[in-house]
Amino acid sequence: MSRVVVVTGGTRGIGRAICERLKADGARVAALFAGNDEAAMRCRDELEILTLKCDVGESLQCRDVLAEVERLLGPVEILVNNAGITHDATLHNMNENAWRDVIRTDLDGLYNMTRPVIGGMRERGFGRIVNIASINGQKGQFGQVNYSAAKAGVIGFTKALAQETARKGVTVNAVAPGYIDTGMVAHVPAEALDQIKAGIPVGRLGRPAEVARCVAFLVSEDAGFITGSTLTVNGGQYMT
Ligand code: CAA
Repeated sequence: MSRVVVVTGGTRGIGRAICERLKADGARVAALFAGNDEAAMRCRDELEILTLKCDVGESLQCRDVLAEVERLLGPVEILVNNAGITHDATLHNMNENAWRDVIRTDLDGLYNMTRPVIGGMRERGFGRIVNIASINGQKGQFGQVNYSAAKAGVIGFTKALAQETARKGVTVNAVAPGYIDTGMVAHVPAEALDQIKAGIPVGRLGRPAEVARCVAFLVSEDAGFITGSTLTVNGGQYMT
């Protein structure tokens, strides 16, 4: 598969594992990152992929960076909307920035990244879009009204766009990871994390590579009859 792939938030955590996996499968991969230059350089050198800076909350930056990817690698055939942030607090303690920042990155980012590539995918009659949602968009999470709302929105976006593009060879699916061993989960206070881990039937955190494998399946040629679905990867913590 020498398809051109763009992965947002692609230089760390789950995003990096997705890049690594798709590169191993033969794709030409561009990983976008928002701010951590050091991690991006490591990713570029270790995985030998293109890394480009882009804040997915800024629509102009998204348009420009996608044009750059197309210039360097060719038309974008696979888009993985993975970039996401948390800013946890109970609603009665949540300030407006914590609300807006999370919605802007985790939900507005989908529009900003997908809008510029969807026309080309439709015209060429092929496309794969995978949106990384979360268990917490499915079940809600104490301390995450912002993140849970954004990730539930990601699932709604996925189902709507899947209907619009089904006849054009473009599939749109979501992957909803549970608690995966990444920097994001490492920031959860130890006591809260212990409580969460106790509720995971498999008895451990997930691995980024386990999520990447699901994405690799959904973007494959073989997965053309799967669209609008949400694949949960959560160790049994929440069964849908
Ligand atoms: N359900 C019900 N009550 C809860 C609770 C829960 N899950 N968690 C805490 N509480 C209760 C506490 O027992 C406490 O009660 P008392 O006041 O009666 O003692 C009260 O709520 C306040 O709890 P905290 O002391 O924890 O409150 P805080 O203000 O210090 O912190 C918080 C709140 C920031 C939300 C913190 O609890 C937290 O970080 N929780 C984890 C949130 C979480 O899971 N984030 C996931 C990040 S990773 C991710 O998002 C990736 C992904 O996709 C899965």
